[in-house]
Amino acid sequence: MPVSFPPALDLFLDLLRCPTCRTHRLHPDHGALRCPVGHTFDIARHGYTGLLTGTRATSGDDAAMVQARDRFLSTGAYAPVRDIAARLAADAVPERGTVVDVGCGTGYYLAGVLDRLPGARGLGLDTSVRALRSAARAHDRAAAVTWDVFRPFPLADAAADVVLDVFAPRNPAEFHRVLRPAGRLIVVRPTGRHLAELRGRVPAMVTVDPAKEQRLHRALNPFFEVAVTEQVEYSVSLAGPDALDLVAMTPSARHVSRADLTEGGVLPDQVTVSVLATAYRPR
Ligand SMILES: C[S@@+](CC[C@H](N)C(=O)[O-])C[C@H]1O[C@@H](n2cnc3c(N)ncnc32)[C@H](O)[C@@H]1O
Ligand SMILES: [Zn+2]
Repeated sequence: MPVSFPPALDLFLDLLRCPTCRTHRLHPDHGALRCPVGHTFDIARHGYTGLLTGTRATSGDDAAMVQARDRFLSTGAYAPVRDIAARLAADAVPERGTVVDVGCGTGYYLAGVLDRLPGARGLGLDTSVRALRSAARAHDRAAAVTWDVFRPFPLADAAADVVLDVFAPRNPAEFHRVLRPAGRLIVVRPTGRHLAELRGRVPAMVTVDPAKEQRLHRALNPFFEVAVTEQVEYSVSLAGPDALDLVAMTPSARHVSRADLTEGGVLPDQVTVSVLATAYRPR
């Protein structure tokens, strides 16, 4: 079956670079992107482009995690988090700006940012092809590409007005390289109170390391300085399946069975959502 070329990918052909030779642009060619030397990357029929070839990435969400994340985000429980990310991005993106969402997952946050910026284009990067199936459909102006954040990005220097990183791994040097000097890196991460009720009752849930903020600062400090930080904290009530999805969308799901969670009223019926969102300016 011929693969139709995703219209949003067209918006990015000037910024994408061949990940193999790192210099050439990519051009559409028979359901693929190709560089002039002949390196070829398939466009999946689900709409994302597979730029990540060779050795497999070491991390990335599996299908069950992605489905749980998709369901949970569709409840609107994280809408205030999306709003703050979109507001910080809107302050930094010009009329026809470019947003790169790293570890974009299902594209929920990227779509929220693009909704707020009618002329902007968005690119989602993630190792999880299952997540990218959703991200490729998340917004008319969003393209989705497989990529591992720990490798040099398949993007030109100074390509982005905003790099968005929501609960995802980071690569400060590459974030700095692909951002324009006037651009912003927006990092959203949990505080120690985030989902505390759930962490208290489900021992397999990964705890938030108290030194996390310090580590983040140390990693970003050579490349970025803080422009503004906002804290968002609120309580949400959970229906039974929502709490299960909150566990299932994290790596902890691999260490605990659904039966263990549903028996004996382990799951809370409300949780605290508590995140910090910082906009950083490149040094
Ligand atoms: C906690 S999820 C957050 C997803 C999305 N930003 C959100 O908040 O809905 C972390 C995401 O990072 C992706 N990821 C994990 N390791 C990665 C890597 N090395 N490179 C790129 N993405 C990665 C996962 O597949 C997953 O989609
Ligand atoms: Zn090439």
